[in-house]
Amino acid sequence: MELEASQVTVRFGGIRAVEDVSLRLGRQEIIGLIGPNGAGKTTLVNALSGFQKPRSGQIRLAGDDVTGWSPDAMARHGVVRTFQAVRLFQGLTVAENVETALLSTGADRSAARAHARDILAYLHLSERADTPANGLNYGDERRVGIARALAMEPKFLLLDEPAAGLNIGEAQELGQTIARIPNDFGCGILVIEHNMALVRDLCERLHVLATGMTLVEGTPAEVMAEPAFINAYLGAEA
Ligand SMILES: Nc1ncnc2c1ncn2[C@@H]1O[C@H](COP(=O)(O)OP(=O)(O)O)[C@@H](O)[C@H]1O
Ligand SMILES: [Mg+2]
Repeated sequence: MELEASQVTVRFGGIRAVEDVSLRLGRQEIIGLIGPNGAGKTTLVNALSGFQKPRSGQIRLAGDDVTGWSPDAMARHGVVRTFQAVRLFQGLTVAENVETALLSTGADRSAARAHARDILAYLHLSERADTPANGLNYGDERRVGIARALAMEPKFLLLDEPAAGLNIGEAQELGQTIARIPNDFGCGILVIEHNMALVRDLCERLHVLATGMTLVEGTPAEVMAEPAFINAYLGAEA
């Protein structure tokens, strides 16, 4: 079973945000989606998760054409994403934020309460369970975003810059947690991430976008040896 973008194009007025991009994500793998700012990474994730209807091309889930499905329909069928800017219910506690996600999948209240505690423990958030969401530091806030996504029982989890703003130690710890998710939760992961050391350790394959187009794809070693990658990526970082 796969989640697939096939020759997807998204335009905003004259801007070619994503142009003719094809990408596949399997159930047990972690792939990295990388590229300079403005390359189209978030737009592609939006297209894969129902937040953006492509102008042309298809989104397929387990071979079925799901192009144009709503974010809600995609989530109910297992395609769940996080946002660059975490969206939590600020007035609720950490545990309540996760419970809310569980209730939305049809869990009853007591099951949601128990399961939320399990997910929080998995993400090393047990000590924060009763903290109001608006009192969290940045790293914890990002982990709660992932906890909420895991509560949706994803088959495919799309993470938009989960380590942005974390220090190196926090990012490595988060990377270790993300690395275990496919096996523990049975879902494939696509991760947008700028930290190349993290991406190299975490991902089996990388897909590099530049100005909306696929620049190169392959294993981390293959991608990092590509002159086109080195020029585009390091050029934009400078
Ligand atoms: N809703 C939108 N309206 C207009 N332009 C957009 C919109 N979303 C993204 N863009 C543009 O599309 C391009 C790709 O953006 P984005 O997918 O956010 O890139 P990335 O996530 O790789 O930084 C950029 O030029 C951005 O300005
Ligand atoms: Mg982005």
